[in-house]
Amino acid sequence: MLNKIKRWKNQSSSSELRERMLKIQELQIPSHIAIIMDGNGRWAKKRALPRIAGHHEGMKVVRKITRLANQVGVKALTLYAFSTENWKRPKLEVEYLMKLPEEFLGSFLPELVEENVKVIMMGDKEMLPSHTRNAIERAMEDTKDNTGLILNFALNYGSRSEIIEGIKEVLKDCKNGIIDENELNEDIFSSYLMTKGLNDPDLLIRTSGEIRLSNFMLWQLAYTEFWFTDVLWPDFAEDHFIEAIEVFQNRQRRFGGV
Ligand code: FPP
Repeated sequence: MLNKIKRWKNQSSSSELRERMLKIQELQIPSHIAIIMDGNGRWAKKRALPRIAGHHEGMKVVRKITRLANQVGVKALTLYAFSTENWKRPKLEVEYLMKLPEEFLGSFLPELVEENVKVIMMGDKEMLPSHTRNAIERAMEDTKDNTGLILNFALNYGSRSEIIEGIKEVLKDCKNGIIDENELNEDIFSSYLMTKGLNDPDLLIRTSGEIRLSNFMLWQLAYTEFWFTDVLWPDFAEDHFIEAIEVFQNRQRRFGGV
């Protein structure tokens, strides 16, 4: 057990990186970081590889960044792994993407359990193939009592439909007298969304040079700091993640105040 923790703790490659990691921990670490992991296809294309090779490489980065986030004290990491629009992709690519959670959790789950990481998911589970759903549900069950980093996979997730579903539930509860429409406020509405129980992200990272939200956490990102990078997700390294946190720590958040 001690060896594993040592491996987890000592993974950072250079002393310069370790120093930056220590430094950011002296300041406020964003409690919740959300990431739009973009650029897998372009990464593969540049190497004349099939797109799925980019996704496979991207999965390795998920492992690396999860470890690092846990190490520096991030409380929640939300990863946009598959959107409700991604079903439009070629069948083989979709099938491959649906295999990734199993592959990832198949090898990484014991480490997540040991490192006190809690796996959760947001998105419509019903449409997922049973093998994908089972892998995620097993990880959620095995880590449900963990109290460390929350690793939240956005899988078959779309923010507009999340909001519409939330509104439908609010209307139902108003009709049944469970809530009073005059008392409805932002906090109550937030509890009808898939992120119930999670703080809104403090920092959003999007890789690959695209500057848009792509139907991701539209409600929850209202006051989030955004950090965009041209780096493609499979090339995203520890020092990019640290850089994003450093930039965040130099921003002044006013939440509409002065
Ligand atoms: C967008 O890049 C990326 C995705 C739709 C999939 C992201 C998935 C992973 C990084 C792996 C997930 C891992 C687990 C464990 C679930 P793109 O394909 O749109 O890239 P492109 O814009 O360059 O074509």
